[in-house]
Amino acid sequence: MKVAVFGLGHVGSVAAGCLASQGHRVVGFDTDPAKVEAINSGRSPIVEPGLDALIARAVTAGQLYAQADVSTQLDDCDIAMVCVGTPSAEDGAHDLHQIVEVSRSIAGAITPNRGHKLTIAYRSTVRPGTCEDVILPIYRECLGEAANDLVELVHHPEFLREAQAVDDFLDPPRIVIGTLDGAPSQTCAALYEGYSAPIFHVGIREAEMTKFMDNAWHATKVTFANEIGRLCETLGVSARQMHAMFIADTRLNTGPSYLRPGAPFGGSCLPKDVRALRQVGRETGADVRLVDALLDSNEAHKRHQLERATAGLEPGAHVLLVGLAFKRGTDDLRESPQVDLARSLVERGFRVDIFDPYVEPGRLLGQNLRYVEAHLPGFAGMMVDKPVAEARPYARVLAGNKLVEQLDIDRSKVVALCTIP
Ligand SMILES: NC(=O)c1ccc[n+]([C@@H]2O[C@H](COP(=O)([O-])OP(=O)(O)OC[C@H]3O[C@@H](n4cnc5c(N)ncnc54)[C@H](O)[C@@H]3O)[C@@H](O)[C@H]2O)c1
Repeated sequence: MKVAVFGLGHVGSVAAGCLASQGHRVVGFDTDPAKVEAINSGRSPIVEPGLDALIARAVTAGQLYAQADVSTQLDDCDIAMVCVGTPSAEDGAHDLHQIVEVSRSIAGAITPNRGHKLTIAYRSTVRPGTCEDVILPIYRECLGEAANDLVELVHHPEFLREAQAVDDFLDPPRIVIGTLDGAPSQTCAALYEGYSAPIFHVGIREAEMTKFMDNAWHATKVTFANEIGRLCETLGVSARQMHAMFIADTRLNTGPSYLRPGAPFGGSCLPKDVRALRQVGRETGADVRLVDALLDSNEAHKRHQLERATAGLEPGAHVLLVGLAFKRGTDDLRESPQVDLARSLVERGFRVDIFDPYVEPGRLLGQNLRYVEAHLPGFAGMMVDKPVAEARPYARVLAGNKLVEQLDIDRSKVVALCTIP
């Protein structure tokens, strides 16, 4: 294929060198003449292990060249990769001026009589909605109605790590290709024939959101590790040994557990132990702000769930909450988010029934009983059995867990609180 790469910084020069090394013909564009000159003289514009050699070989073989001016160079290109910068603006949002300028240049260089669509794959990190609200209007303005026939817009996030960028480009953990209608982009996918990584064909907004989620998660992990490290230091605990033990638990600590958006955390351990760790942080002066924020963030999520649960309900409506215990199949009510939800619903004036066959009010004992009596007074009178839950004409059924699948009820009335679609 013939590939145009816009922006020859870290992302673009790696893409250009790697794609050329795989036999594609590549033309790179950059507004910085020093980067264009570096490529054309067979050097990498950036320091990145292995890249100088790839670029030198590709330029010598005639597979790669660069220039500053786009003009009509796109006529025989199959795909354009946009790798311009999206630095922070003053308010912290991405400054999109490079995206806007490069989109105008590309749109201006597309000749209306080109024989086939140009796939334009944006690799730069941008917020969801940027393609629809900022980029697409530029192509429509420049190309008019013909835009739909002349270009295919794709968001195609890049996952490379600097210092391992060549290896990461050639062997990515996954490939994400987002299009405006969610249909696979055959042209973009064709670049990855022979790759073993899974390809996700998704909508453009999901593709745009990918790097936000990844980078926020990576930042969370680093911050968390450092907070625990600081705490360990102040407590005379070996951070090295803690790290070794922590990562050995790939089931709960470093695997996919606890990462599906849905219910708030609760139960008899997480809230109390996070509270206690926050207190240790205060006493030792370790200043653990991420740990400090966990309970507040969880409360924010409970408020969000309450709004989802009640949106559009008439005042005083009759609702069924399915699942009261913190975990399905138990009767542990201590700090169960559903107990909080039921109380908030009652406080807002809704009539609340609760279906949870594992919670038998007469069998509750000790701290468990004291907790629910204190946090949801009169809860025993709200509990209903399966026949009642199925018979009453509830305005809404709130599924706190999968127990809802046991009920023969009108599914259109169910709002799932244990997952976020
Ligand atoms: N650096 C990384 O490790 C990494 C990894 C994944 C994603 N990203 C994202 O990829 C994007 C690019 O990152 P980067 O680190 O390569 O940025 P960079 O600043 O190193 O490179 C951007 C290049 O684009 C050029 N440019 C600007 N306007 C142009 C235009 N109109 N036409 C042609 N070239 C133009 C600049 O001169 C510069 O060389 C950013 O959105 C970044 O967030 C970066």
